[in-house]
Amino acid sequence: MTASGKLTIFIYYKLLLKAEYFGFKVFFFTLFAGVTLLNRLLGQIPSRFPTLFSQTSCLHTSAVFNNKNWERKNRIVYPPQEKDEPRRPAEVHHCRRQIKYSKDKMWYLAKLIRGMSIDQALSQLEFNDKKGAKIMKEVLLEAQEMAVKNHNVEYKSNLYVAESFTGKGQYLKRIRYHGRGMFGIMDKVYCHYFVKLVEGPPPVLEQSTPFDQAKEYVEELKNRTIIYSL
Ligand SMILES: *[C@@H]1O[C@H](CO)[C@@H](O)[C@H](O)[C@H]1NC(C)=O
Repeated sequence: MTASGKLTIFIYYKLLLKAEYFGFKVFFFTLFAGVTLLNRLLGQIPSRFPTLFSQTSCLHTSAVFNNKNWERKNRIVYPPQEKDEPRRPAEVHHCRRQIKYSKDKMWYLAKLIRGMSIDQALSQLEFNDKKGAKIMKEVLLEAQEMAVKNHNVEYKSNLYVAESFTGKGQYLKRIRYHGRGMFGIMDKVYCHYFVKLVEGPPPVLEQSTPFDQAKEYVEELKNRTIIYSL
């Protein structure tokens, strides 16, 4: 990473910390419009004054300033809570990028564990034969460890999968040779997997059976006031 890149990220980081500290969510989100501009402006500096921005430190710090959205969510600092407020559940965001797997095949697995408790999700993935299941299990275990280590979660089983989805990664085009001098194009596909774990038991969704729905419908019919009838 170039010196100016480091500087830029450092400045963003300072701004972000400030924004997060005061809990100005709006500021936090509008900031990113300005960031691109700032980036462009700062990007010009080293080309104009090359001697000013030579590397001064060999400390490897760039990994801390990860500027991807999902990873950055882990650094949100909430304002202190009121005395009588219920305890804010810990949340941890984790992902793996550029997995050599199809986003569409991954989706089924991501959908499978959505809303499950962490232990249930892990055991579901354990006994799934798909390639993605193994990768997802690794990501979940990493996230679980992060939750306990960095996010003040006391019991590692006391988590549930609040969000779980896939994203499209890099798509490379390659030639696929057919007979008779013809060819097709194949894609080399990659995908991302994103997960958010939240502390606590999984929320129970209230499910209404078809029978309940029918009863409600009949009630609705009965509740009608029919005007101009006999
Ligand atoms: C039907 O009317 C009753 C009594 O007014 C009310 O409690 C109920 O919610 C109504 N049901 C529907 C489906 O509108």
